[in-house]
Amino acid sequence: MRKNLVVAIDGYSSCGKSTLAKALAKKLGFIYIDSGAMYRAVTLYFIRNQISCADELAVADALQHIELNFHARDYESHITLNGEEVSEEIRQMPVSENVSEVSAQKLVRREMVRQQQRMGKSKNIVMDGRDIGTTVFPDAQIKFFMTADPKVRAERRFRELQSKGDTTTSLENVFENIAHRDYADTTRTESPLVRADDAIILDNTKITPQEQLNFALDKVKAAIPPV
Ligand code: DC
Repeated sequence: MRKNLVVAIDGYSSCGKSTLAKALAKKLGFIYIDSGAMYRAVTLYFIRNQISCADELAVADALQHIELNFHARDYESHITLNGEEVSEEIRQMPVSENVSEVSAQKLVRREMVRQQQRMGKSKNIVMDGRDIGTTVFPDAQIKFFMTADPKVRAERRFRELQSKGDTTTSLENVFENIAHRDYADTTRTESPLVRADDAIILDNTKITPQEQLNFALDKVKAAIPPV
């Protein structure tokens, strides 16, 4: 039985996992770890260095040259790739369009899971992703599986991109990207996105971030001893 507490949040793309994870981490005083940011940063490295996923040797070699670190500021997680802050760049469409292929690679997953397990070894954490409750921390004390209507998810992500000054990506592009990533995440061979048997389903299509936080906090309080 693990001593430190782990809240695992998995679910489909763009359904507010990080919003919930950050808010929970803040309320509970836990460390927030965005596992998707790690796959995104690896993808950015592959794009910049023209690493082909078909070339296993190149992938293995690249993984040895990638150092990822999180720097928490106000519960916003900032990630550095070999010392460079890339938190903004990894959210842009070129990375979103290539991350499914990169995150399906066995070598990439093995290395990311190893790093994630190390990060969650001794501290209380909230980690969000696709395989946290199934592969990374199957023994997490509390697990959520998040979902929402794909159209609602696309609209939310589209507004977010617009607010960051992206005027070239259409709502249709965003919807297609989400549909593609859902398909890729659920059908890949390596740790596909599936709900852990003991995960609590949270569909936030019709609820506000505050309502979802209250729901999750109640479940956390019921599942773990007071912290
Ligand atoms: O959470 P996100 O949308 O930022 O994640 C980006 C991609 O990384 C997503 O399309 C699937 C992949 N991913 C994964 O395969 N496993 C994780 N634990 C987290 C993300």
